[in-house]
Amino acid sequence: MKTITVNSRKGGAGKTTVSVSLAMAARQAGLKVVLADMDPLRSSTEILRSRAEAPSMLIETNAGKLWVLQEGCRRNGCDLLVIDTPTHPESEIIHCMTHSDLVLAVTRPTFLDLAAVRETIALVQRTTTPGLVVLNQCPPKRNGEENPVVIDAIQRLRFGKLPVAKSVLRSRIAYQHAFASNCGVTEWDVNSEAAADVLWLLAEISKHLALPRPEKDAPLPRALRRRPQGVSAVRTMQAALKRLVAG
Ligand SMILES: Nc1ncnc2c1ncn2[C@@H]1O[C@H](COP(=O)(O)OP(=O)(O)OP(=O)(O)O)[C@@H](O)[C@H]1O
Ligand SMILES: [Mg+2]
Repeated sequence: MKTITVNSRKGGAGKTTVSVSLAMAARQAGLKVVLADMDPLRSSTEILRSRAEAPSMLIETNAGKLWVLQEGCRRNGCDLLVIDTPTHPESEIIHCMTHSDLVLAVTRPTFLDLAAVRETIALVQRTTTPGLVVLNQCPPKRNGEENPVVIDAIQRLRFGKLPVAKSVLRSRIAYQHAFASNCGVTEWDVNSEAAADVLWLLAEISKHLALPRPEKDAPLPRALRRRPQGVSAVRTMQAALKRLVAG
């Protein structure tokens, strides 16, 4: 089982958005995923708690219980544990980072966010866990050209000591629709641009972590089994994920 800690020391950068989106995409693609909500604000819980599967995929907990949680997940054959963290306290964030296989440092491509992500990067570097900076809420490309704000952010991040994920998440309204429907963006509309962003990121992370390939006939989430278009959406995503991981 692999554990990912998602953090930013700055509020609103997108920790919950990244955690929920990745966890639900991986789950939809057939992996057994648990999302640990360690933020006392419980935003991930707010999004997912009404789901029938919530008891088996969503845990409201804190860093002090991480070891027990990881043992429980391992015993239950979990493939991936995603931890949505708060902005503080530092000691709890460090604890999660230390006991993870990968840390995602989420940041918006703005001057102040990029200044703040240095703190997250510094924390990662106090551990031996690899980290990846994830740019979130990036402006969309214009006529296929990358936005100068994103280019500038990547330049600035070059001087940090963590690699930057090639897949960036753009500002997309689909996240609001998905969360209001208690689901991840890939479940809401697998053909949306937001879903494509998340799938690229998941594929990149899958390579880093050597996550198991999704099974061909993985059981579908119950909510999707009821909707024929949902079934084909999951199959499309499984195929996309396999291609990306293989490539
Ligand atoms: N890529 C995106 N596109 C559109 N909206 C986004 C995106 N990422 C985040 N948001 C929105 O920005 C707000 C903050 O995001 P989110 O709650 O994920 O951040 P956070 O880092 O978890 O915040 P907190 O520090 O409060 O836990 C939310 O309303 C969320 O829906
Ligand atoms: Mg949050």
